[in-house]
Amino acid sequence: QATSIADDRVPDMAKRETLNLLLLGALSLPTAGMLVPYAVFFAPPGSGGAGGGTIAKDAIGNDIIAAEWVKTHGPGDRTLSQGLKGDPTYLVVEKDRTLATYGINAVCTHLGCVVPWNTAEKKFICPCHGSQYSDQGRVVRGPAPLSLALAHADVDPDNGKVVFVPWVETDFRTGENPWWA
Ligand code: FES
Repeated sequence: QATSIADDRVPDMAKRETLNLLLLGALSLPTAGMLVPYAVFFAPPGSGGAGGGTIAKDAIGNDIIAAEWVKTHGPGDRTLSQGLKGDPTYLVVEKDRTLATYGINAVCTHLGCVVPWNTAEKKFICPCHGSQYSDQGRVVRGPAPLSLALAHADVDPDNGKVVFVPWVETDFRTGENPWWA
């Protein structure tokens, strides 16, 4: 009853609803169409299923190809890439020149400065308040309360691209549940 009264008082309601539907359709159709490749793009095979993966990007925004990365980044290298949610994330090259299966989130757990890698000290040392992290990002000196977050650094078998996937398992550095998941 109430709706019919409202409809009577607003004679344009039907027309307006039609317009709204048209507008909604115009907006949502292409959006839905774009979401399909987007979803496929970010769920590469081998990413472990449910978790959304993100292709790692280099400093100028290009997708990172694992094989090329290790040609230009030597053993022990830690270089920033764009990781999950755009967070600056270190890719780690192991001593045997392979890419580590984890990336290290560079956001300091104290107050959020991006922590640079110190090659000479073989540590991440925060310029803001002096927190230090091991070469795997485990906190070794405060005031930072926690180790740097991890992400899986997988390699897409189809195209060789590095794909970050959220790390929800035990933190292998501490044996504890990940504080960031
Ligand atoms: Fe890194 Fe304070 S923000 S030590």
